[in-house]
Amino acid sequence: MKKIWLIGLSLLIMLGLLGCGSDSGKAEQKASAPAPQKAAETASVPAGKGKILVAYFSVTGNTKELAENTARALGADLYEIRPAKPYTSEDLNYNDESTRATVEQKDDEARPELADQNAPVAEYGTIVLAYPIWWSQAPRIMDTFVESYDFTGKNMTAVCTSGGSDIGSSADYLQNLAKGKAHWKPGKLFSPRTDAQEIKSWFDGLGF
Ligand SMILES: Cc1cc2nc3c(=O)[nH]c(=O)nc-3n(C[C@H](O)[C@H](O)[C@H](O)COP(=O)(O)O)c2cc1C
Repeated sequence: MKKIWLIGLSLLIMLGLLGCGSDSGKAEQKASAPAPQKAAETASVPAGKGKILVAYFSVTGNTKELAENTARALGADLYEIRPAKPYTSEDLNYNDESTRATVEQKDDEARPELADQNAPVAEYGTIVLAYPIWWSQAPRIMDTFVESYDFTGKNMTAVCTSGGSDIGSSADYLQNLAKGKAHWKPGKLFSPRTDAQEIKSWFDGLGF
């Protein structure tokens, strides 16, 4: 009788040990499971503004001046968006409907090629796009630019110059084309020589 009880006890201990073994297997499985998707998404969202990049396109210099003032006001870096084929003054003649800039603006599928795709977007938490208004919108090369990078998790806004028109729907149009889920705030039209304090107040008011 004592022998049977001892065999029973040994069986129980073995089963117990086996049970422990499978639990620790589960623990190992849990430890090596991939991190939840949500944590990864949160990690790509910048805490606060991060470093700021002003990415600008300018042909006759007005937007370049505004971009430089904006970078000074915000302590930002500058990146120039350059076309592979530079625009001549003839290309910009909006009194002639057959000239390059006007033909491109009338074609919402036109995507002028970029001279490079080296904008250091990944290093920055906030991107300020700067462009002139062409036929009430951003130049098509801005469409090419926003479709060429992934802006997931970035803070995004825009500044622009014009001959009198307001920013209109130009920044919203770029937002709709931009790749990746970013945090967009409304852009603003400025004169090229706007002083730093005015630009800074506007930017701080966006609440990034
Ligand atoms: C093809 C073309 C179209 C333009 N369309 C407009 C327009 O619709 N409204 C406006 O106010 N200015 C318009 N402008 C004027 C520019 O927005 C303005 O001169 C701008 O400051 C130029 O910027 P940039 O010197 O950086 O190239 C146009 C200019 C060009 C070349």
